[in-house]
Amino acid sequence: MENNKRPEGMARIDSVVLAEKFIAEQIASVKEQVGDKKVLLALSGGVDSSVVAALLIRAIGKNLVCVHVNHGLLRKGEPEQVVEVFRNQMNANLIYVDAADRFLDRLAGVSEPEQKRKIIGAEFIRVFEEEARKQEGIEFLAQGTIYPDILESGPVKAHHNVGGLPEDLKFGLVEPLKFLYKDEVRVVGKTLGLPDGMVYRQPFPGPGLGVRCLGAITRDRLEAVRESDAILREEFEGAGLAGKVWQYFTIVPDVKSVGVRNGVRADEWPVVIRAVNTKDAMTATVEEIPYELLKKITARITSEVKGVNRVLYDVTPKPTGTIEWE
Ligand code: XMP
Repeated sequence: MENNKRPEGMARIDSVVLAEKFIAEQIASVKEQVGDKKVLLALSGGVDSSVVAALLIRAIGKNLVCVHVNHGLLRKGEPEQVVEVFRNQMNANLIYVDAADRFLDRLAGVSEPEQKRKIIGAEFIRVFEEEARKQEGIEFLAQGTIYPDILESGPVKAHHNVGGLPEDLKFGLVEPLKFLYKDEVRVVGKTLGLPDGMVYRQPFPGPGLGVRCLGAITRDRLEAVRESDAILREEFEGAGLAGKVWQYFTIVPDVKSVGVRNGVRADEWPVVIRAVNTKDAMTATVEEIPYELLKKITARITSEVKGVNRVLYDVTPKPTGTIEWE
């Protein structure tokens, strides 16, 4: 437990100068730890794993093997961004695994939320392990553990984790961010040259859009979640809300209601908008989206997203509503 405590007197990394110092120290320490051995990293494209990747690319270059598993539940444009930033711009050794069909096949017909989470988590480990076994000479596993993960470890974290350590692959652990708080990780990421869209992005659950396509996931309804989410994000960015609202996304319940399109009655899904502010995700308040913006988002979603005829706005704080719908 002793080496899991933030060193006493460690300065808060709140400037580029301090971030540069931290990066230089970590590069030296990773080099010393791993030498010329290879390190494997599950790179989701989230803030923590992206910052670890950028840091280790600086330290050991192609000896870092990044694996990006596309489980088919990512937001629009996310897998493409990971490939663009890490393979094309940072010249990383990146393995891109399109596992969408595998995940969606396993999830077919499963409606219970915790069961969905378990399937996604277990399949993630399976895919990651398969890729790990194809690699030769890997001796270390890098992880984007940050200090709150250590402080909050226990049932809550376990519930939220997708993936995890493949237990029978005996790797040494490389965790360069383990004493950093989230805001410090962002400063380090920015200093390493990661794009703002990656460094300042809103929290995104491990099971991704899977818990926003309520009940049993179908490909057409999942597309409705992905497309409506992309429209919401685009409109929030245009309205200057993107960096301001803590978390915002859409949900598509497994229910249809009648509407009218081109003069014909048609049963289609509703899209629910959720936009909340919070400090610690334990309680949350609802963002008061300007009505004009809501009207614009509604018009776009109902005309651009296939199979959707209504848009609802969830104005429920947490409690009584949770942030996600399942
Ligand atoms: P709730 O819905 O419990 O969400 O109010 C609180 C925060 O946790 C995120 N969340 C998850 N994150 N795996 C994750 O990594 C999960 O299964 C999961 N479920 C909820 C949620 O997006 C919000 O930020």
